[in-house]
Amino acid sequence: MGLNLDRLLGTKLFILRCLRNPRQLGAVLPTSGHVGTFLARHADVEADFPIIELGGGSGSVTRALIKSGIAPSRLYVIELDPELAAYLKKTLPDVTVIQGDAANLSSILPADIIGKVQRVISSLPMINMPPAIRRKILESCFEVMTPGGIYLQFTYAPLSSINDKIHQLKKKRLGTILRNVPPATVWQYTRDVATAGC
Ligand SMILES: C[S@@+](CC[C@H](N)C(=O)[O-])C[C@H]1O[C@@H](n2cnc3c(N)ncnc32)[C@H](O)[C@@H]1O
Repeated sequence: MGLNLDRLLGTKLFILRCLRNPRQLGAVLPTSGHVGTFLARHADVEADFPIIELGGGSGSVTRALIKSGIAPSRLYVIELDPELAAYLKKTLPDVTVIQGDAANLSSILPADIIGKVQRVISSLPMINMPPAIRRKILESCFEVMTPGGIYLQFTYAPLSSINDKIHQLKKKRLGTILRNVPPATVWQYTRDVATAGC
């Protein structure tokens, strides 16, 4: 199957899954590659630490990260939707795709990368989630990262979808990508090493 046809099928699948479960998908269309290119600049292209991507969808961010120079072997993509996860596994065979919940990272990731992850890149629709789930996901991410690990989240609203005060995180707005419909804003969250939880 040609590359473009594969992508077209991915977009179609994304839209169909969104119609089924709009709250979980959180967007009607996949993100543009420009968002992934922007995120790659904050993920240290030259390094070799593992990177987790939460909410792979149909792979638009994953492909842009790889195109920007991130080795596919560094990427661990977590996707809850079984059909999207199967599509990702088929079309991105060099990436580790895990069908599962971002709230359970320590039990679904390979044991040898736990504690070595330095970036989590998330396109999860945090704004649609109950606060307890949001907290569980953040705890799960910081649990598998190195102490100085960075959580990157993009949102379609100009405001942060994570309350830094409630979760005891440091927040920084990294920029807005206008070449996306709607424009996407990328936020960085870090945890004070002395802080116990989220
Ligand atoms: C807004 S879409 C982004 C998809 C893709 N990264 C993009 O930018 O086009 C969010 C994705 O997160 C997935 N998702 C939602 N909750 C999740 C969870 N708890 N764990 C893993 N994936 C989840 C959805 O199924 C969906 O594919």
